[in-house]
Amino acid sequence: MNDTNSLVVVGAQWGDEGKGKVIDYLAAEADVVARFQGGDNAGHTVVYGANIFKLHHIPSGILYPGCISLLGSGMVINPLVLLDELSELEKRGISTTNLRISTKAHLIMVYHQVYDRVNEELLGENKIGTTGRGIGPAYADKALRRGLRAIDLVDIKVFRERLAQVLPLQNHLLKWAYGHEGYDLDQLLEMYRPAVEKLGPMVVDTSRLLSENLAEGKKVLFEGAQGALLDIDHGTYPYVTSSSTVAAAAGSGSGLGPQCASRVLGVIKAYTTRVGEGPFPTEEKGEAGALLRDQGGEYGTTTGRPRRCGWFDAVIARYAARINGLTGLAITKLDVLSGLETVNLAVAYECCSSKTKEFPASMATLQQCKPVYEVFPGWHEDISRARTLGELPEAARQYLEAMEETIGVPIEMISVGPDRTQTIVKPATYLAGWCGD
Ligand code: IMP
Repeated sequence: MNDTNSLVVVGAQWGDEGKGKVIDYLAAEADVVARFQGGDNAGHTVVYGANIFKLHHIPSGILYPGCISLLGSGMVINPLVLLDELSELEKRGISTTNLRISTKAHLIMVYHQVYDRVNEELLGENKIGTTGRGIGPAYADKALRRGLRAIDLVDIKVFRERLAQVLPLQNHLLKWAYGHEGYDLDQLLEMYRPAVEKLGPMVVDTSRLLSENLAEGKKVLFEGAQGALLDIDHGTYPYVTSSSTVAAAAGSGSGLGPQCASRVLGVIKAYTTRVGEGPFPTEEKGEAGALLRDQGGEYGTTTGRPRRCGWFDAVIARYAARINGLTGLAITKLDVLSGLETVNLAVAYECCSSKTKEFPASMATLQQCKPVYEVFPGWHEDISRARTLGELPEAARQYLEAMEETIGVPIEMISVGPDRTQTIVKPATYLAGWCGD
């Protein structure tokens, strides 16, 4: 493996950092794009000219005809949603023949969505604020060793057999704990038959496929979903998703060793957003937050929920850099900050009358943390047409330099708009090499 053929791209905040756009840009040069965790809770929007694609399971690589798109073993896949996603792409003339699904990826079944919804209802005001896609229950069933896997989709007889093994238990839970009438085996079989027919042939040993591609020196992009603070182990537990969202999961979630990628790019928005519940130190509940939401179009791709918005938080960014081993940063949505008089950047937290630069593990502590801001002059120019660093206003460059310095990781890419073309790649960086510059 050399230094230019594999890259992990992860979110370094609470998801929605604009990974879709960054991955789409980098996928132009990739031979394989592989997802390794999460499911259809992810929603990435890719804008190319007048075309807007909203993808949930499928990596952005699908938009490039020569690129293999892969759903890895660490994922949970909703076969019915994936079918819709495929047919939407096909309707728009995008070929889906290059999609491959890991034999070992787990399936999100209809009953997982029931559990997700009822769990949230029962938690009441302590709810997680999930996307309602059944992600947590599907991962829970995987850990409880009663999940169905993509390999079970290869043959309708096998699918029936596996379903028959788990359904009595699921129906028992549905009826006695969740107040649901349960599902009939034949009814479920009919519901999933189209998925068996369409997805079954796409199910392969993706670990082998990836390893062969890496050995041949092909360029592989590992696409993370959600973000560092939604990681099941290192995120703001319990307000997290149920998978490992950090870069180390690229190996385990793809069936490869930890050295599968030589570089880790953290995607980070020039401000912060969060959907769902949980503490958020730099949240702006007033005018500033509303402005960021409106200018940034901060509404969920998967649920349509308005995102909570606030200033950039370098405490989070430093923490994300450590738990992911980030080697570079892609700053997104810098253009959204244009027009502000001043721009705030949190460099530390004030908590229990002391100052800290460390991200706390306790949510009760995080709830009490008040951001310590450095305030930077804003800029009024429209920066959406800038294609080099030199074309950015001095104030914007100062803000980027401050980010880089407080985080301690080099910025390699800056996005100044949703379109593929609205991207600045810093010369003489790893990403510049990836893009062939
Ligand atoms: P779940 O993944 O649906 O179980 O949701 C758990 C938490 O993760 C909730 O706060 C969701 O809003 C959040 N979440 C899950 N996926 C995404 C995403 O792609 N972007 C942002 N937040 C997400």
